[in-house]
Amino acid sequence: MATTPTTPQTTRIRHGASVPLAIWPVAQRTAQYQRAGRYHPDCRDHPGKMLPELARRIVAEYSAPGALVVDPMAGAGTTLVEAALLGRRAIGVELEPRWVDLAESNAAFVLGTDADRLVEVHHGNAAGLVDLLGADAGRVDLICTSPPYACDVGNVDKANWDRGGGLCPSRTRNYSVDRGNLGHLRGDTYEAAMAEIYAACYDALCPGGLLVTVTKNTRRKGRTLDLAGLTVALAQRVGFTYLAHVIALHAAVRDGDLVGRASFWQLTQTRKARARGEPAHHVVHEDVEVLAKGTPQLTTHTPEVSDAR
Ligand SMILES: C[S@@+](CC[C@H](N)C(=O)[O-])C[C@H]1O[C@@H](n2cnc3c(N)ncnc32)[C@H](O)[C@@H]1O
Repeated sequence: MATTPTTPQTTRIRHGASVPLAIWPVAQRTAQYQRAGRYHPDCRDHPGKMLPELARRIVAEYSAPGALVVDPMAGAGTTLVEAALLGRRAIGVELEPRWVDLAESNAAFVLGTDADRLVEVHHGNAAGLVDLLGADAGRVDLICTSPPYACDVGNVDKANWDRGGGLCPSRTRNYSVDRGNLGHLRGDTYEAAMAEIYAACYDALCPGGLLVTVTKNTRRKGRTLDLAGLTVALAQRVGFTYLAHVIALHAAVRDGDLVGRASFWQLTQTRKARARGEPAHHVVHEDVEVLAKGTPQLTTHTPEVSDAR
């Protein structure tokens, strides 16, 4: 669908000043349809991928052709693939070797022989981003990333996990069998680790460069975890300026109505919560937080068409 920049309102997020608010519908087509034929079939194994149309829109709006785009927690490599398809150079960092392999497979699947020229994927910790980037440190135009958060422990191995054991190495809904993965951290430990990563992002960007994060507020035991507010607060703490907020709508717009794209798992969780008496409902959006190194004005680029190749 056509990409129309919309900034009619402002929003206030925890600890932040009012900033422009936009709404992007990015799920007119299902996630599976957006990936079909463009991503390696093994892509389904990663449990927390960004919608390709969202990654594509962020890259198109917030970077120019030829720019250097980085995702320090690259997962299946969605940001990298979409950035390369839009003529940007892309570098990713990922902690888990199997997702590094997957990101490389995805890049090769869609870019063919251009993949080596346009996309680099490093195995490593995002906190070491500056060292991993080498000569590119301080030259990055856009960092586009979705941080891991509050991974659910797969049902298969929950008992073992609760006893202090490891996760079973079978494929679960987790990113990782490694307790050190940020997706398993909570509370202060999570905040400290993410603050370190946002500080590394700050150093990696060029002056005026943008950090664009994608987060989803979750509910746990009836309470909302305001990950959007927390992310802005952590980024501001290390020097970023909060420029804009986008609501990425995970619902199709059909004849004036919103049709949610809840997964079977989300539907089940919501039914269970309601059965417990919790006033649960589906969250049908993600928050996109746009932050800058320094205090530049927000200039968006004329977005290229967001349709799949
Ligand atoms: C939400 S997923 C990112 C998904 C990605 N945007 C995509 O579309 O595929 C977060 C990723 O961060 C990775 N991760 C967790 N801790 C990390 C760390 N310290 N450094 C780098 N990557 C990490 C996880 O393994 C996971 O793949």
